Amino acid sequence: MQTITVELASAANERGYPILIGAGILDQPDLILPYLLQKRVAIVTNTTVAPLYLERLRMGLESHGVAAISIVLPDGEEHKNWQTLNLIFDALLSNRCERNTTVIALGGGVIGDLAGFAAATYLRGVPFIQVPTTLLAQVDSSVGGKTGINHPLGKNMIGAFYQPRVVLADSATLGTLPERELRAGIAEIIKYGLIRDPAFFEWLEQNMAQLLARDPDVLNEAIRRSCANKAEVVAADERESGVRALLNLGHTFAHAIENGMGYGVWLHGEAVAAGTLLAAELSQRMHLLSTAEVGRIRKIYLQAGLPVVAPDLGVEKYLHLMGMDKKVEGGKMRFVLLKRIGKAVIHAEVPAAILTGTLVECIVNA
Ligand code: NAD
Ligand code: GLY
Repeated sequence: MQTITVELASAANERGYPILIGAGILDQPDLILPYLLQKRVAIVTNTTVAPLYLERLRMGLESHGVAAISIVLPDGEEHKNWQTLNLIFDALLSNRCERNTTVIALGGGVIGDLAGFAAATYLRGVPFIQVPTTLLAQVDSSVGGKTGINHPLGKNMIGAFYQPRVVLADSATLGTLPERELRAGIAEIIKYGLIRDPAFFEWLEQNMAQLLARDPDVLNEAIRRSCANKAEVVAADERESGVRALLNLGHTFAHAIENGMGYGVWLHGEAVAAGTLLAAELSQRMHLLSTAEVGRIRKIYLQAGLPVVAPDLGVEKYLHLMGMDKKVEGGKMRFVLLKRIGKAVIHAEVPAAILTGTLVECIVNA
């Protein structure tokens, strides 16, 4: 097992927490026990993950005297909303869960975001633990404390920053992950290479086939390096007043794709891949990134079997949806652009004609 620590700026670093990574660690509930304030937990999961992993986690905890209730939600991005969030509150209240009862998220990013938001707000905040079971959740969403739900008008628009007490990432759970979901997770892994870790990007170029084949060593290394990158960024800027925004490379476009197509039609990682290509094309038109580097970025996404052309929602709809982005400041869109592979910057001065031209050339006439 490997451990990466998220160091958070507060007196005595008391909110910092470990990310535990390893194959088979779901069967070691003793790893979770030290983080429980009370021998009671509520495990939030969904109808797909429950038959695969819920009993293992629940029975492991119960064998250590921990009482567990299970909250099994419908599966899918289209359920990341108020109605599903309320199902969690209904179960927590009807089971009289208390301030020291820990909410455990067992599943992918949708479950992590929903359960985390419930933990942040139930009784004004109860302890929270992440047990991510998708590649995307193990390399990104379970780390850093962003929780929340979608709104019909915009993706992830309602939520809270709320950190888990520990993250337990069992890479063996990825053995049951559908191929398409594995590829979607790789989109977020590539992101770390692009924004801040060029050596990792090169390593990914060389190891993509093994990653897609789920080679255990390559998988663990990809998770470890991704989490190490994310932990450093979150430690530097927990609430996204600066450098953390770089983790949103491609996301302004991606969130427009996800909303515009209907939540769940394009997977988040797929939208991030196509959105990152648009961000790269925009960077090239802003004379920041070379054409050769745009080609190299397109190639790695193709290697990963991810989409590199965004769907044609129409330029007007893209501009409207992108205007809902959380990075908008004073009504002005801000973009994460690439100066080179391994170096991202925030840019607030993208001329409208260049943005529109990028959309027309790369989507409409692609
Ligand atoms: P997801 O949670 O929908 O999971 C993908 C699918 O895999 C689901 O059908 C799920 O039931 C299934 N699944 C989960 N684990 C499985 C397993 N081990 N075996 C078989 N099937 C399994 O999607 P995701 O890609 O994990 O997460 C995407 C979500 O995460 C989006 O809503 C996105 O906005 C959010 N996100 C949040 C952050 C953050 O910082 N909070 C970061 C990135 C993405
Ligand atoms: N996934 C972006 C972030 O955590 O900031």
